Amino acid sequence: MRRACFLAALALIAAPLFADEPKDPEQPIPYSHKQHLALGLACKDCHLNPDPGDSMTFPASSKCMSCHQTIKKDSAAIQKLAAFDRQSKEIPWVRVYKVPDFVFFPHKSHLAAGAKCENCHGKVAERDRLFRETDLSMAGCVTCHRQHNAKQTCDYCHDPR
Ligand code: HEC
Ligand code: HEC
Ligand code: HEC
Ligand code: HEC
Ligand code: HEC
Repeated sequence: MRRACFLAALALIAAPLFADEPKDPEQPIPYSHKQHLALGLACKDCHLNPDPGDSMTFPASSKCMSCHQTIKKDSAAIQKLAAFDRQSKEIPWVRVYKVPDFVFFPHKSHLAAGAKCENCHGKVAERDRLFRETDLSMAGCVTCHRQHNAKQTCDYCHDPR
């Protein structure tokens, strides 16, 4: 009974899913992973996985300003960055990857199982601008679960926990 309700609810909200959003959203500041990773920065310098471990974080503008206080400070993009920082405003990054609310996706268990960032996000270190380049639709998730003998039952990913 509970499952029937769940599926009916999903059918109603299935239309406007994130899949309809642009694959390569324009960002408020043209931040390049390629340019910055070439400097020797690591993913974890900017993306942490705090408890309970479902989500990754985005870096605070103060992290960026630790270099950009001086580097390229006359560039228009850096002036925009500095303005967000001065006003203590979060930079409104547009999400590239997102699962709908009715899907449970924990980063922590995947990283613990040995999955690498690139398995799900592609060649980030070679990209000036990120785009959704991997298949993280239900089919993509289920295919990888099948390959790794992880569960594929509906409530593994869908039951609210
Ligand atoms: C200097 C800081 C910095 C480093 C280092 C960094 N990132 Fe990022 N990352 C960002 C910022 C800022 C954004 C938001 C802008 C964007 O999407 O390009 C972002 C966005 C992302 C996103 C898109 C998230 C979403 O759904 O919107 C992914 C995936 C990502 N980073 C993965 C990585 C990986 C993998 C590495 C290491 C190979 C890495 N990043 C290293 C700053 C960083
Ligand atoms: C470790 C130092 C460092 C950190 C941290 C850092 N950057 Fe940079 N950034 C650089 C360097 C070096 C360049 C290349 C400058 C050049 O072209 O001479 C650069 C270039 C840029 C540019 C291109 C500027 C232009 O007009 O050419 C942007 C935009 C930028 N960074 C944004 C960010 C953002 C946003 C963050 C935080 C998420 C960040 N940076 C964090 C060092 C850093
Ligand atoms: C098994 C696949 C998988 C792996 C491995 C993975 N991610 Fe993700 N990532 C996702 C999915 C799916 C989302 C969207 C999650 C959501 O909407 O809750 C996401 C979202 C993100 C975001 C946006 C913030 C958030 O948590 O929603 C960032 C940043 C990110 N990932 C960075 C990374 C980095 C860095 C690594 C490696 C340390 C990594 N991811 C490993 C699948 C993965
Ligand atoms: C790179 C392969 C891979 C991809 C892609 C992947 N998974 Fe997984 N997932 C795994 C593995 C392996 C496990 C088993 C981890 C374990 O047993 O500890 C797992 C476990 C899980 C769990 C259980 C975690 C827990 O702590 O109970 C959930 C929920 C889950 N995945 C959801 C998703 C969703 C949703 C997606 C797509 C957005 C996805 N996965 C994509 C490999 C993947
Ligand atoms: C490994 C994780 C995973 C498993 C197992 C899983 N789903 Fe999904 N499901 C997802 C993700 C992720 C989405 C969101 C897809 C998107 O945004 O494009 C989704 C979306 C849906 C939707 C919304 C419509 C659509 O297709 O996007 C329905 C309905 C659905 N799932 C039903 C099921 C049923 C029934 C089962 C069991 C047979 C199941 N799911 C098993 C991850 C999973």
